[in-house]
Amino acid sequence: MKNIAILASGSGSNAENIARYFADNKNINVSVILSNNPRAGVHARANTLGIPSFTFTREEFVEATPILKKLAEYHIDLIVLAGFMNKISEPLLKAFPGKIINIHPALLPKHGGKGMYGMHVHEAVVAAKEKESGITIHYINENYDEGATIFQATCPVEPTDTPEEVANKVHALEYLHFPKVIEKLLTL
Ligand code: GAR
Repeated sequence: MKNIAILASGSGSNAENIARYFADNKNINVSVILSNNPRAGVHARANTLGIPSFTFTREEFVEATPILKKLAEYHIDLIVLAGFMNKISEPLLKAFPGKIINIHPALLPKHGGKGMYGMHVHEAVVAAKEKESGITIHYINENYDEGATIFQATCPVEPTDTPEEVANKVHALEYLHFPKVIEKLLTL
């Protein structure tokens, strides 16, 4: 059995989509959800799905010992960031080399970096009059949004699209592709 930990800071719609995708899988399981935000919607979703979820402070994420303990407890093979807004600290990167992946809601290297998350990204895409946007699934390294790309998918951006409309198109790509990319990584 391969065990996934999902890290999420917000609503957690990707976390839920991934968990549902693997619900009947005998070899891959979403075992635990970690967040930096006790009020994040992802906890209610985890509760409904019957997946344990925990909140850790920013300091605990930086220091990493309590996180590493929790990940060991659940025998985690892959850490999936799904809307996680904290930087991943060095001890975590060292403990899980090549085993931490993120989804970014745009076509990196465009519209990435510090402060570029959620709606900020879609607003930047519309402001730049991009003709397309999409998703980038990538490995995590010590810099924001700079690890090696694993997968990209694109969607058109119409001149009349609002940031919310772009967000909806990008979410659809996330729901379609993220679980499949995770499955592929864990069955290589
Ligand atoms: C997702 O669109 C994800 O790509 C984005 O946050 C959203 C979380 O939505 N991540 C980033 O912006 C990371 N830089 P969700 O909580 O409903 O899954």
